[in-house]
Amino acid sequence: MTLVTPRRAVLAAPALLMALTKSPSTALARAAEDGLAGVAKKRGITYGAALLAENLADENYKRALDREAALLMPIWEGKWGAIEPQEAVLNTGPLKQIIDWGAAEGKAVRGHTLIWHESLPEWVTKGLKGGRNAGISIMASHMDRVLGFTKPFIRDWDVVNEPIADPPGSDTPQSGPGDLRRTPWLEAMGPDYIQQAFIMARQRDATLRLTLNEYGIEEDTPAAEEKRRRLLSLVRELVMKSTPIDAVGIQAHLQLSNPFRPEPLQRFISALQGTGLQVLVTELDIRETWNAPQDIAARDALVAERAYAFASTAVEAGVKTFLTWGISDRYTWLNDTPGVAMPSGRKHRGLPLGEDLSRKPMWQALARAFSGGS
Ligand code: G3I
Repeated sequence: MTLVTPRRAVLAAPALLMALTKSPSTALARAAEDGLAGVAKKRGITYGAALLAENLADENYKRALDREAALLMPIWEGKWGAIEPQEAVLNTGPLKQIIDWGAAEGKAVRGHTLIWHESLPEWVTKGLKGGRNAGISIMASHMDRVLGFTKPFIRDWDVVNEPIADPPGSDTPQSGPGDLRRTPWLEAMGPDYIQQAFIMARQRDATLRLTLNEYGIEEDTPAAEEKRRRLLSLVRELVMKSTPIDAVGIQAHLQLSNPFRPEPLQRFISALQGTGLQVLVTELDIRETWNAPQDIAARDALVAERAYAFASTAVEAGVKTFLTWGISDRYTWLNDTPGVAMPSGRKHRGLPLGEDLSRKPMWQALARAFSGGS
C-alpha cells in the first residue's frame, strides 16, 4: 500500500467518500442495525469505547454509547488521581457509576490504569522520593485497595502505562538514559518497577488480564520504529523473566500528520504475538492536521481512510479487543487539550460519531474493517 500523503488523499477524498457512503454495501446496510460492537462481534472482536462517568448524564450520548460499545473503559475514574487522591482514601463512586451502568447494559469494563507517571496525587510523588522500599510499599498498598475494590467487576487492567521514553524526533522526546521513560517510579524503584507492578497485580488477582499499554508505536516514522524496538525489547525481557504479563495495548492515538503503512504495524503486532502475548487496540482516535481542508466531507474521508488502514491491519493481524478513546467528537481530549486542539475553533473529527452523535465515515471505515473489508 503506497504512502498516502495528505495532498493526494484530499484529491482522492471525494471518490473515497462516495465509495464509503454513496451506496453502503448490503453488509454495511445490515450493520446499520448493529452498533460497531455488533459488527465486530460477528468476527469475534470486542469493540468498546472509553468514557467519562460525568458524560453519562447526557441521555442522547448514553444511548449512542450503549448502541455502539460492548466494552467500557474509564478515561479518568480508575486513575490514581481520581480513585485514591489522598492516601488510603478511596473515591470509588465515579468508577462504580461506570461499572454499574455497564453491568445494567451487559457491558464489561476494562481498568485504566494502575501505574503511570501522570495523574499521580502529590502524596504519591512525594512518597516516591523515599526510594525503592517506599515505592514498593506505595505500589502494593494502591494495588491492595484498587484491585480489592474492582476484583468483582473488572477482569482486565492496564497495569503499567507508557513506560517507554519517547525517542528523538517524536512530539515529546525524552533524553535518556536508555529506553525507559524517566518517571517517579523509575527514579524510586529502578527499571524493575515494571515487573514488580505485574507481579503485584497477579498476586492480588490470579485471573486478571494484565496489560502493558503504550502510544507512539503505530505509524511509519523513524521515532515510532525506534519506540517499537524499545517496547519489543522490554516485552521480550519481561517474558524472559517469567513476568506475569498477558497483553500489550497499542493506544493508537493516530495523527494524520504522520505517514502510515500497514507493514511496520503488522510486523510489530506479529513480533509481540511471537512472545506469547495478546495485542489489544486500547485508545484509537485520529488527530487531524491543523491545516485540514475546510470541506467537512474531505476531512471525514481522510480520517476514515486512516481509520480503515489502521483497523484493518490490526484486525487482520489478530487483534480481538479494540477500543476507541471515546465514541463521539462531542467529548474528546482532542478538542480540549492545549497543543492538541485545533486552532481557530475548529474541532477534530477523530471518533466514529460526530458531535451530533451521527455516524461519520470513520464509523463506516471501522465497520468495514471489522467486517473483513466487505
Ligand atoms: O473530572 C475531574 C474534576 O472532577 C476535578 O475537579 C479536576 C481536578 O483537576 O480534574 C478533572 O479530571 C480531569 C480528567 O481529565 C477528566 O476530565 C483531569 O484534571 C485531567 O488531567 C484529565 O485528563 C486526562 C488525561 O489522560 C490525564 O489523566 C484526559 O481527559 C485523558 O484523555 C488522557 O488520556 C490519556 C490516557 O489516559 C493514556 N493515553 C493517552 C491519553 C491522552 O493523553
